[in-house]
Amino acid sequence: MTVKHEISHAQKRITHGVYVISAKLGDKVNAMTAAWVCRASFEPPLVTISVGHTRHSHDMIRDSGVFAVNVLGPDNVETGRHFGLKTGKKTDKFADRDYDTKATGCPILKDAIAWMDCKVVSFHDAGDHTLFIGEVIDGGVLKEDAKGIIYEKESFFK
Ligand SMILES: Cc1cc2nc3c(=O)[nH]c(=O)nc-3n(C[C@H](O)[C@H](O)[C@H](O)COP(=O)(O)O)c2cc1C
Repeated sequence: MTVKHEISHAQKRITHGVYVISAKLGDKVNAMTAAWVCRASFEPPLVTISVGHTRHSHDMIRDSGVFAVNVLGPDNVETGRHFGLKTGKKTDKFADRDYDTKATGCPILKDAIAWMDCKVVSFHDAGDHTLFIGEVIDGGVLKEDAKGIIYEKESFFK
């Protein structure tokens, strides 16, 4: 089915930030850039991420039940491209990247502006994506004065 041009045009007017969603399964780590990330509840603190079925991260998150959200700031556009324009199926995207880990073991990027360590509490089929709802079990701000960036296609896809 082809989605009507006007519909996808309208959907593109929805404002998003840019995040790196990291995953850990066994002794492997991976991460992908995501714009479709949303705060979902105050109590307990929940976030939703929408992950395409074909992403390597998709099966890692589904099978491990954990992920971390790294919030990108103005200095992190290159980081967004790094994790968003190639898959981790055959390459180690963390080979040249510094990171910490917290309770879940999912990578926390040292140059992000904030992070949230999450446990999946449920997931739901959403067309060609899966919505993972995660409870934020820990989190922190790494750059107190920085604001998250707004997703603009031109910054990531030339
Ligand atoms: C700015 C940006 C935003 C993206 N947002 C999403 C998203 O919300 N959900 C998604 O499934 N893929 C999104 N992607 C695509 C994935 O990051 C990309 O397919 C990535 O290579 C998947 O990596 P993986 O296969 O190692 O998991 C986005 C990519 C970019 C550059």
